[in-house]
Amino acid sequence: PQEREELKSRIRRLLEERNAVMVSHYYVHPDLQDLAEETGGLVSDSLEMARFGRDHPASTLVVSGVRFMGETAKILSPDKRILMPDPDANCSLDLGCPVDEFSAFCDQHPDRTVVVYANTSAAVKARADWLVTSSCALEIVSALKDKGHKILWAPDRHLGNYIQRQTGADMVFWNGACIVHDEFKAFELSELMKEHPGAKVLVHPESPPDVIALADAVGSTSAILKAAREMDAREFIIATDSGMMHKLRTLNPGKTFIEAPTGGNSATCKSCAHCPWMAMNGLAGVAHVLETGAHEVFVDPKLAERAKLPIDRMLAFTA
Ligand code: 13P
Ligand code: SF4
Repeated sequence: PQEREELKSRIRRLLEERNAVMVSHYYVHPDLQDLAEETGGLVSDSLEMARFGRDHPASTLVVSGVRFMGETAKILSPDKRILMPDPDANCSLDLGCPVDEFSAFCDQHPDRTVVVYANTSAAVKARADWLVTSSCALEIVSALKDKGHKILWAPDRHLGNYIQRQTGADMVFWNGACIVHDEFKAFELSELMKEHPGAKVLVHPESPPDVIALADAVGSTSAILKAAREMDAREFIIATDSGMMHKLRTLNPGKTFIEAPTGGNSATCKSCAHCPWMAMNGLAGVAHVLETGAHEVFVDPKLAERAKLPIDRMLAFTA
């Protein structure tokens, strides 16, 4: 604990000295979430992380999250220095959508508007017409459908299928999945619901369709937070990364939050629903990059210019 407090003090001092601000995703360690807020940064979902990074006057951003979040920050603010605690923190959706194969898929569907999820590489974004995150995907696809667009969607198939069911849009899908949300299990969840009959079930739409079907509310990390605050219940079952529990519990002290079951045996798998890449972020990594400038994120400027178009569209749509 003493080492932890020393690291936090060092980070506070370094943030000031380096004219830097921290943005953390809801899935990273509670220390990084609290420190971001305490020092004038932000803890949020991927959409608001992008907007905050773009608009903040600091010259350096420390992005605690995964690679696509750092790349998006760099694309939106090419003149800022973007640092990430661990350069290998990636995402199964990004890894499962290599740009060459994705481009070939797009070439097979030239009549379709290409909508990609934020959890993708800069190169995939550069091939897209629209970017979405889970907090705005439904509204954006719905608006495109109303204008007569047919959609090519990538990479998360569960989120894509959910949006198709909700909007009735004409969509073709890339076959990607989030290794964390894909693990939630409908049968085990229904058993848990019997043990907690009053509990409301809140589900992130990267989860499988039979899990989504059991939800009282489906939405992004920020939508889950909002539902937990507003819904009139004492107990909630949460199907998203367990990093989310920190904010849910601190903002709702009178309510109980229970993790939805995954395929793993909880005796052997203490936090099955925790993203291994989000878990690579830690206090020591933040202090190290602030001290040394290591792990700076770079995006090829030509690629960044093209990738910025769909991101700007999304930010303007949701402003
Ligand atoms: P949000 O866009 O809801 O923050 O989710 C990002 C993510 O990585 C979900 O697994
Ligand atoms: Fe990617 Fe899933 Fe991890 Fe989010 S939780 S960063 S979607 S692997």
